[in-house]
Amino acid sequence: MDMLMFELSKNTTKPLYEQLYTGIKSAIMSKQIEVGTKLPSKKKLADFLNISQTTIEVAYAQLMAEGFIVSKPRIGFYVEDIDELPFIETEQAEWPVEDTDEKTFRFDFHPGKIDTDSFPFSLWRRYAKDLYDRPSKNLLQSGEPQGEYTLRTEIAKYLYQSRGIVCKPEQIVIGSGTEQLLPMILRLLENDSRFALENPGYSAIPRNQLQNIAIPIPVDEDGLIVDELEKTNANVVYITPSHQFPTGAVLSATRRTQLLHWAAKAENRYIIEDDYDSEFRYTGKPIPALQGMDQNNKVIYMSTFSKSLMPSLRVAYFVLPSTLLKKYKETFSNYSATVPRFDQHIVASFMRDGNFSKHLNRMRKIYRKKLDKLTHIFKTYYPEVIITGDQAGMHILISIPSPISEDQLIKVAAESSIAIYPLSAYLLKPIEYKYPTFLLGFGGIPLEKIEEGIHQLMQCWGIAQ
Ligand SMILES: Cc1ncc(COP(=O)(O)O)c(C=O)c1O
Repeated sequence: MDMLMFELSKNTTKPLYEQLYTGIKSAIMSKQIEVGTKLPSKKKLADFLNISQTTIEVAYAQLMAEGFIVSKPRIGFYVEDIDELPFIETEQAEWPVEDTDEKTFRFDFHPGKIDTDSFPFSLWRRYAKDLYDRPSKNLLQSGEPQGEYTLRTEIAKYLYQSRGIVCKPEQIVIGSGTEQLLPMILRLLENDSRFALENPGYSAIPRNQLQNIAIPIPVDEDGLIVDELEKTNANVVYITPSHQFPTGAVLSATRRTQLLHWAAKAENRYIIEDDYDSEFRYTGKPIPALQGMDQNNKVIYMSTFSKSLMPSLRVAYFVLPSTLLKKYKETFSNYSATVPRFDQHIVASFMRDGNFSKHLNRMRKIYRKKLDKLTHIFKTYYPEVIITGDQAGMHILISIPSPISEDQLIKVAAESSIAIYPLSAYLLKPIEYKYPTFLLGFGGIPLEKIEEGIHQLMQCWGIAQ
């Protein structure tokens, strides 16, 4: 072939080898150099272009690496057939730069935020460091679809000790959040199921998808009103009995029994018990899980590490009654676990060594202090604000006797860089409340900032001290 003629400039920041590589590549792509053509030897091209052989060598190596040319030993370099290129190159600078920063507020009262100052980073790092090493190389392969057996064993032990739940690791399914697991449970129970949900309540499933299929059941200070459930034709109910989300009510003993009786009355009836933040109860006796009281294999228990460890971990689980295991295996035999195996092992080791219980004890004290501070400030300075749901968890409800609408209150708070979340966002069916009511999550606000946060919020709402 004719010698390759390229304009190489020494006056740009682009190195010579890159200019040469780009030149040859474009010539091949535009078919100026045909497939099968032999390229000049490195020496000849170096002499011709008056540049070093090393520059040619680097450019050819790059072209070889990308499959544009092949080297035939002792014969030379040939242009390869490259029909379809797998990608189109663009100048990097052309990509729009997205603003990916999280929106930050001076005070964010989101109920899902945890205390990030107390996380045992060095301990966690030690487990991670030990694990990411050759002896754990088998963890690079896919694991068990239900989740790592070792983590399921630790969860089973923990559930027995702390929640009175008797189950085998075989009954546990681990997944990357309540959000991911709840749809799996619904699929498992699908055949003509009619779902009842607490109203107000948590929903991992987008409300617009549920609107037509879910039956809202009202909640009062004793939790879900089981009499109302009995009036419907629902056969599956999703419930947060230990700490109703978001009202904070505890399902009374009478209603617990009533609910279990309801479930026992028909073969296709089930209770999905979401025990999401039961670790944080500050007054009274711990409330055992419904699952432990059930004699009829009617309860599908679920919980998450989102509050007890961190929401970003994305580890939650459900416990199936043994009667549903066969159906589970048939329905999900091709599923892969959605939590990375390494993360599962970190959590398992953390639990096995007793660090999870220690962490919970520590966090319970921290959240309790925050809650005490919060309620003290309201009682002392703003007695007209009505507080409910302050027995457990990481948020309370506040009702504001204010003539201003809920939307307006959210807006003025946002203008003062305060994020606040209305109860109305958790309604499946509208309910008229006497006063605008909000969830006030305190988990993510440092203890020493709580007082300032509340004063600022009340000030922007025009509530005087
Ligand atoms: C009732 C309830 N269940 C579960 C969760 C946690 O969901 P996930 O496990 O997807 O983080 C929350 C979080 O706020 C919740 O309120």
